[in-house]
Amino acid sequence: MKVVIVCVSVSHGNTARIAETMAKVLEARVVSPEEVDPAELDACDLVGFGSGIFTMDFHPRLRRFVRDLPEKQRRKAFVFTTSGLPEPPFRRYVRRLAGLLGRKGFDVVGTFACRGFDTWAPFKLVGGIRKDRPGTADFEAARRFAEGLGGGPACGENVSSPGS
Ligand SMILES: Cc1cc2nc3c(=O)[nH]c(=O)nc-3n(C[C@H](O)[C@H](O)[C@H](O)COP(=O)(O)O)c2cc1C
Repeated sequence: MKVVIVCVSVSHGNTARIAETMAKVLEARVVSPEEVDPAELDACDLVGFGSGIFTMDFHPRLRRFVRDLPEKQRRKAFVFTTSGLPEPPFRRYVRRLAGLLGRKGFDVVGTFACRGFDTWAPFKLVGGIRKDRPGTADFEAARRFAEGLGGGPACGENVSSPGS
């Protein structure tokens, strides 16, 4: 199975560490949007798309990359993110990116989210929040999620530890 994971991780490397954990399981290459030729994704069985959350959305570089992808025949994809806070019910950014990927010809077969060290402006004043995230339980959840991607729909959300 050929798998590529497209990841933007600019703040603390939180999402990159989750991407690397998944990549080990899937024997995937982790690339930034600027490093990958969209044509390369055509040859993939599965493509991962992930970033931290910035002002209640995926990183603009990831969103732009997805927006500019040509529409193709059906391929499989998964979406993952790290963020300081859980996704609010009034701003479903995971569903939105998955919807955009669907319009580009991807079947989104799984989504994964966990908390990450967050020094967004209001939290910077107190030294940041979720200082030890992603942590052991998050990496374990990411590993299990990646293992499940070979089969049917997968949904990972590490809610096993405080602050999830
Ligand atoms: C400028 C900025 C804006 C952010 N906005 C949000 C946000 O809207 N919601 C949230 O839950 N976390 C927010 N965060 C926290 C990041 O999503 C979190 O730290 C994430 O794990 C960063 O991933 P990265 O280290 O892979 O870049 C923000 C962080 C920064 C620096």
